[in-house]
Amino acid sequence: GAPSAAAASSSSPVLRRYYSSESTPERKVAVLGAAGGIGQPLALLMKLNPLVSKLSLYDIAGTPGVAADVGHINTRSEVSGYAGEDQLRQALEGCDLVIIPAGVPRKPGMTRDDLFNINAGIVQSLCTAIAKYCPHALVNMISNPVNSTVPIAAEVFKKARTYDEKRLFGVTTLDVVRAKTFYAGKANVPVAKVNVPVVGGHAGITILPLFSQVTPSANLADEDIKALTKRTQDGGTEVVEAKAGKGSATLSMAYAGALFADACLKGLNGVPDVVECSYVQSSITELPFFASKVRLGKNGVEEVLGLGPLSDFEKEGLEALKPELKSSIEKGIKFANQS
Ligand code: NAD
Ligand code: LMR
Repeated sequence: GAPSAAAASSSSPVLRRYYSSESTPERKVAVLGAAGGIGQPLALLMKLNPLVSKLSLYDIAGTPGVAADVGHINTRSEVSGYAGEDQLRQALEGCDLVIIPAGVPRKPGMTRDDLFNINAGIVQSLCTAIAKYCPHALVNMISNPVNSTVPIAAEVFKKARTYDEKRLFGVTTLDVVRAKTFYAGKANVPVAKVNVPVVGGHAGITILPLFSQVTPSANLADEDIKALTKRTQDGGTEVVEAKAGKGSATLSMAYAGALFADACLKGLNGVPDVVECSYVQSSITELPFFASKVRLGKNGVEEVLGLGPLSDFEKEGLEALKPELKSSIEKGIKFANQS
């Protein structure tokens, strides 16, 4: 029989306009760091995304192989691999969206901030190239420490006079993915139905899941909410320790990165009501960058949504995270302005 999706789209002009392949706009997406642990599975997932028409895979080395491999998959996008800085221009020109998972990952015992010294410079140089070659692209920053790399990117773009706060995103989707998974397990509800905002930043206590707003609500005990909060905050460390020196989350991160990139592309294409949590320039607290729910649209950020009502536990968490997040932001800004 006829698949139900086809039936739905032929009965709905709205769905047909957004999802039929004839009218899907051309979109070039680049992954910078595409030969890495996140980069490779992210390249695979973006190759599966029908909203992408050109997939540009850049790394300092190894991308011809990844591109040849992924390029054999019979989906819409045309794949190109670029290796080394002299190919960065070609990789970036014409991009609508640039996803950045370039940089070193943690080993056990390290904080994300311990990655600052290496990754700050990598992000700075990649963002300098973005400002030159695709200043209007949306940027999805995955490289850690996200709390600082996003402010670095903003400063680089400001210096180049290309900064548009609507186009710069720190990817915190993995925190949401984890909060949903952990909650569903504890509350014994279907994970696909779970929705929960995660706000603040992307490191330790700066990650603040708002389980008071979770749906479906299961009225968990306070101790359970505390334990779920801690597990979400330490989710990255859980993976780093389990991998025991072989890096940090790559597969779940690729999934989360692909989910967020898809939301950005839907927003660009005019799909209404696309809302995801992301770490963006913000005025919902006194901090200049903050993760919260964001409505995505044709220009990137359409609206930064407020926090909504918080429990006392969440209010305490919010106050506790502010000093650390503030200093990570300032560290990024200082780095970008002294080098
Ligand atoms: P990895 O070492 O496996 O891969 C990183 C890749 O970046 C490598 O292929 C490397 O060659 C490349 N690279 C280095 N310098 C580059 C440059 N100048 N230009 C282009 N590419 C460059 O690491 P990974 O596991 O993929 O993690 C990458 C980053 O993502 C780390 O900083 C990690 O902490 C971060 N991360 C963030 C989240 C998040 O939720 N935001 C989740 C997981 C990992
Ligand atoms: C994560 O949350 O998995 C990433 O930020 C990687 C890490 O270092 O924990």
